[in-house]
Amino acid sequence: MKTLHPRRYLAGLIWFGCVTPMIAVAAHTSNQDARTLYKEECASCHMAYPAELLPARSWQAILGKLDKHFGDNASLDSATQQRLLQYLQANSADAAATRLAQRQQRSIPAATTPLRISETAYIRRKHDEIPARLITANPQVKSLSNCIACHQGAERGVFNEHQVRIPGYGQWDD
Ligand code: HEC
Ligand code: HEC
Repeated sequence: MKTLHPRRYLAGLIWFGCVTPMIAVAAHTSNQDARTLYKEECASCHMAYPAELLPARSWQAILGKLDKHFGDNASLDSATQQRLLQYLQANSADAAATRLAQRQQRSIPAATTPLRISETAYIRRKHDEIPARLITANPQVKSLSNCIACHQGAERGVFNEHQVRIPGYGQWDD
């Protein structure tokens, strides 16, 4: 058996004891910072849509034409745009390990690049029994894009069907 030189042993201890946790903390902090930036830049006109609801290519397409963003100009400087794109892609439907991300990824054909979460097959199917009077004709909701009107936990990616409350209607029971 090879014996480990004490100095290398010590170096190993220092690496795994201090440096590795520091790297993990740094990665976590930078994801948190990016999330704060995302909420500042992308949640002034609507809610902060969870990154896991669209594939990386969709975020690229959305961030690539912010000057023509659903009829609005949502332009950002290129450094901010890059930072947000990195965050959104790292947490996208193809990267996140959540069940929601996996369902979304399966429901979006690889050859398409949806720009709207509200028009993807899985999200459409989950809402096709809700009558228009509760969505588009509901002044407190206005459109299916307004996830947070009915799902309080939407920004955290919580869409549990037992916690849905449609404004003016109450608890949804199907
Ligand atoms: C100046 C206002 C404004 C800003 C800032 C803005 N958006 Fe939007 N966004 C809109 C509008 C308007 C819509 C269309 C909403 C609707 O149809 O109800 C929209 C829709 C979206 C949708 C599609 C929602 C759906 O129907 O599924 C996504 C995704 C989105 N925005 C992402 C972003 C991201 C990412 C940023 C930040 C880089 C951002 N938005 C910043 C105005 C804005
Ligand atoms: C008008 C209120 C309303 C809006 C707006 C809305 N939802 Fe829902 N959502 C519901 C209801 C009600 C259900 C439960 C449907 C059922 O009975 O299965 C649901 C179900 C879901 C589910 C399935 C949850 C589960 O546990 O199976 C997901 C995911 C979801 N919504 C995501 C979204 C997203 C993303 C948006 C925005 C793009 C959105 N919803 C907008 C009312 C809404």
